[in-house]
Amino acid sequence: MSNKMWGGRFSERPDEIMEEINVSIDVDRHLFAQDIAASKAHAAMLASQGIITASDAKNIGKGLDTILSEIGKGGFTFKRALEDIHMNVESRLSELIGPAAGRLHTARSRNDQVATDFRLYVRDVLDETDAALAAFQAALVNRALEHAATVMPGFTHLQTAQPVTFGHHLLAYVEMAARDRGRFQDARKRLNESPLGAAALAGTSFPIDRHATAKELGFDRPMANSLDAVSDRDFVLETLSAASICAVHMSRLAEEIVIWTSPLVGMIRLSDKFTTGSSIMPQKRNPDAAELVRAKTGRVIGALNGLLIVMKGLPLAYQKDMQEDKQGAMEGFAALSLAIRAMTGMVRDLEPDEAKMKAAAGEGYSTATDLADWLVRTLKMPFRDAHHVTGRIVAKAAEGGLALHELPLKEMQAIEPKITKDVLGVLSVESSVKSRTSFGGTAPKNVAAQAKAWVKRLEKERKLG
Ligand code: ARG
Repeated sequence: MSNKMWGGRFSERPDEIMEEINVSIDVDRHLFAQDIAASKAHAAMLASQGIITASDAKNIGKGLDTILSEIGKGGFTFKRALEDIHMNVESRLSELIGPAAGRLHTARSRNDQVATDFRLYVRDVLDETDAALAAFQAALVNRALEHAATVMPGFTHLQTAQPVTFGHHLLAYVEMAARDRGRFQDARKRLNESPLGAAALAGTSFPIDRHATAKELGFDRPMANSLDAVSDRDFVLETLSAASICAVHMSRLAEEIVIWTSPLVGMIRLSDKFTTGSSIMPQKRNPDAAELVRAKTGRVIGALNGLLIVMKGLPLAYQKDMQEDKQGAMEGFAALSLAIRAMTGMVRDLEPDEAKMKAAAGEGYSTATDLADWLVRTLKMPFRDAHHVTGRIVAKAAEGGLALHELPLKEMQAIEPKITKDVLGVLSVESSVKSRTSFGGTAPKNVAAQAKAWVKRLEKERKLG
């Protein structure tokens, strides 16, 4: 038998391979709730516009509710021969309510249907991602408050650069997550227009009310151009772009955790909950979760690349290529969600080794800049000269295998006679971080104030949300 949804012109069944390449139900079944919600809104609108009768609309609505609960309970059989979620739902509807089911597809097409369903789906993803990132921020902020004054080495080129505080380091990720959330919120605004009623591509001759269905589905307005409505997937691309940037942020923190937990560094310890052992080496505590977060990033970026490539050569309007928009995106979104939740868990219960961090912070002449700044401030030396003098002092200390604060004052004075013992006050890692009070700097009091401001901001958001 030919397909009963469009079989009028067909006398032969599709080839098996045709069915195999064409079928999308394994992926778009995840859109069942959105598909049913959109159909309900469409049917109710058709009735209120007098396009179908109120009693048909009522039966359609009831039938769709039954299908929703059947799928929810796992009692629905998805049929591959029916290709996709739209035809599976419609076919079941006709089993349940008879010929009235055939009126549901008046003034719409699977093209506007799928665009609507996927917009609704991605909108949920955006909202869930925002909530997950808020929880990630809260975890970071709590640890930052706790460690506002915990000194650690700050790095550039992964070489010890200047002492910073652990709280400051964590708050850097809070800022990144805030921008990520901004990107997702921004994408949501542009996404939130309804394609429903664009029909196949040209609109319809029926007197539909697209404003009504848009409103019913929580969209801000209907999309203005029917060709655009059925043929762009920029809302997926934009969400995946934001997701890729976010995943890169997660991956960078994951990479830091991998470095910090290496016995070579040993600055933090992950809890048993977020490490695994080795089947052969009993001493091992592997940061698998962090490593997998790093790797999941590839999936997210891969999904973005994949869809960009699918879309780039497509003429308007709908092309079947666009059916390939969902699988990668859904997998990418799931990967990001898992990555954010895993990072939140790790941040909540990682334990810094404060003594080790402090010792590491003092290594590599990390307070050399403080010495140069002292020469500028106290001796009014031009910074370039101070930099040179400090370099010579560092070389002298290194020669004797000494830290800066261990180098006898006399040795420093041999290089710059005007140096006094006051200089010793700026050479410790604590005084170094304490002095960095410029806006956005690492001074513990700055960090504590920033962390407190974030606690308030996140609390306020929770109350509004
Ligand atoms: N399964 C299709 C998709 O995901 C639904 C739209 C099909 N439209 C069509 N004209 N064949 O894109």
